[in-house]
Amino acid sequence: MRKTFLTLIVVLFSIACVKAVEGMWLPSLIHKNIEEMQAMGLEITAEDLYSEDGASLKDAIVRFGRGCTGAFISGQGLLITNHHCGYGQIQRHSSVENDYLTEGFWASNADEELPNEGLTITLLVRMVDVTQRVLEATEPGMDELRFQEAVAKASRQIADEAKEEGLYEAQVNPFYFGNEYYLFVYKVYRDVRMVGAPPSSVGKFGGDTDNWMWPRHTGDFMLFRVYADDNNQPADYSPDNVPYQPEKFFPVSARTLEPHDFTMVYGFPGRTNRYLTSDAVQFIMEQENPMGIKLRTDILQIYDQHMASSDKVRIQYASKHAGVANAWKRWIGENRGLKRLNAIEVKKAYEQEFEQWIQENPSKGQAYEDLLSEFHNTYMIYNPLRYSFRLYFEAGRNVEVNRFAQQFMRLVSLSRQKDVAEDVLQAELEQVKDAARRFFKDYHAPIDQQVLSTLTRHFISLSQPGMLPPELEKVRKKYGMDTEKFAEDVFSRSMFVSEEKTMKLLDNYRPSHHRRIERDPAYRFAAGLFDFTITEVQTPMQEVQNKLDSLYRVYTAALKKMQPDENFFPDANGTLRISYGRVEGSFPRNGIQFLPFTTSEGILEKAAEPDVEDYTISERLSTLLKNQVFGEYASGEDLRVNFISSNHTTGGNSGSPVLDGQGNFIGINFDRSWESTMSDIMFDPEQCRNISVSSQYILWVIHKYAGMEYLLDEMEVAGLN
Ligand code: ARG
Ligand code: ASP
Repeated sequence: MRKTFLTLIVVLFSIACVKAVEGMWLPSLIHKNIEEMQAMGLEITAEDLYSEDGASLKDAIVRFGRGCTGAFISGQGLLITNHHCGYGQIQRHSSVENDYLTEGFWASNADEELPNEGLTITLLVRMVDVTQRVLEATEPGMDELRFQEAVAKASRQIADEAKEEGLYEAQVNPFYFGNEYYLFVYKVYRDVRMVGAPPSSVGKFGGDTDNWMWPRHTGDFMLFRVYADDNNQPADYSPDNVPYQPEKFFPVSARTLEPHDFTMVYGFPGRTNRYLTSDAVQFIMEQENPMGIKLRTDILQIYDQHMASSDKVRIQYASKHAGVANAWKRWIGENRGLKRLNAIEVKKAYEQEFEQWIQENPSKGQAYEDLLSEFHNTYMIYNPLRYSFRLYFEAGRNVEVNRFAQQFMRLVSLSRQKDVAEDVLQAELEQVKDAARRFFKDYHAPIDQQVLSTLTRHFISLSQPGMLPPELEKVRKKYGMDTEKFAEDVFSRSMFVSEEKTMKLLDNYRPSHHRRIERDPAYRFAAGLFDFTITEVQTPMQEVQNKLDSLYRVYTAALKKMQPDENFFPDANGTLRISYGRVEGSFPRNGIQFLPFTTSEGILEKAAEPDVEDYTISERLSTLLKNQVFGEYASGEDLRVNFISSNHTTGGNSGSPVLDGQGNFIGINFDRSWESTMSDIMFDPEQCRNISVSSQYILWVIHKYAGMEYLLDEMEVAGLN
């Protein structure tokens, strides 16, 4: 008795001691972590998570579109992802009469589901370590450019073989900066239909006000269905297609979670920078982020001012505003987090440890003696180029007409060729017309004129000596710093700020008209900035980047020698990963504790705040929540809405299923708290928390709010009381 009690204490203690775990792990190598995962509460095996000879959980996960993740939750191809991931699709199906953004959309049967041209979902078939084959194609001492060419060629060959005549898509990705390579074989499904989306007051509740923040109350989920041909294979959209039958789908949990329950996030994280040296981190903190924050603060101010005075403009710029604000807020959080962690000092101390290891291990370390000083010298060349590159993106491409006018560059160059084929020119013309229609639908020229004026002023004053693009030199000569006058002149003379003028050009277009385009002030400005950036910034930057990559390849290999027992995770690179942790709160600031769960009470609390548009909810939601019609989805008296857990996630993990120790779907990941956003560079187990929608809330919205019981019938709901 005493002994079991003691064992229990020891077990409980060791569980409590396992902290949040940094890392996003490759599913095929997850056996390296499985012991720790099981100690934290995982009840299934590595083989259950990833297997090549039989169905495993990986078969229930997809890359959704380009930048998100999704998960199958029924045997009939029902797919869940974030509302913000399918936002573009909802918007495209919406009109003033059918405003699905505001009202939500629910197909009450298969016939009402809406097809989405161009939308694809990508399933991982298998992944294979091909390091040896790739590196065989290289030679020791090769210079970096030739090394990369050899790698690219071998990678292409390996991928081509795996495609099996177009049955699959395949790609070889480098890991640890090219110390390892894996082949990924994918299947891509092209008939993906919209099944259900809650209204924005649920799916986007809190909007930009709450973005990157805890406590959160957003029902950020929506449903699609994937269709296949009669053989369950990918097919173009056809009414004859049938629901895809996934090899695996997740049971959706209705169980009430406890603090410290094991969680894992299984999805497609985009990019992290875990191994950056102190010079790189310092550059991001002191130059890159402050520049982006400063410029976007001004852009948002201009947007806000115009959006407040017109409903039409508010709708036109809603999505643009969200996009500009998202990175802006993330950078602010990232910088705060890095400061709080003393990131530069921490990196420097680590580098000192590395130097010391070299000293103490002359036989192993000799090869690395000059590594850190080479890093330093390379960054001294790289950082100014990178700064100019980022400045172009922030100060140049955030001007809408710059982006738009630049799209005419190909038309101009085709028109100038003497022997251009008529159909090639026509096709290009059609493309540009399409782009123009999309552009003007949501374009408000007075906003953009002000943005051009403001950003051009910043562009000139922030450009480093010798890096001022000639177009800006001209502006400075002619206008001094009076960029307002410059913008006024551009907008009064350019055809690209007027739909009528642009269409007039395109409707009667003849190749000789390229001169009209080239004379246009907006075009000249945009094309000039673009050309300068490509030749004077991007090309040299890429060369230095190659050099950095080769240094990082040596560095990460050296770190493994220095700490042979450490399981270093490879930076996220858009491939499938697992991260694990548990349901837990945090102490973000002195005197404040984050609890792990929010409830519907908080929705009503926020909705009662006067004049916060992001917190408006419908009558129906308000009534249901006030009357506490929670049914079988309640946790005690409450309806849980969101929860936080300590999983290492990043952009691209949106829409990733959050799973419990048995592999049940307990929620969908959609964000991180503000205190976590530095985790792309430096993870802090005390602070880093990802934010998910509780599966109980998802079930409740589908069932009680939308009344779509047939969807619940096809799911496997687990743990119902
Ligand atoms: N911050 C989350 C992510 O990076 C959610 C963004 C969408 N929501 C928003 N209010 N902009 O994607
Ligand atoms: N919101 C992000 C996404 O869309 C997730 C994150 O950055 O935590 O992928």
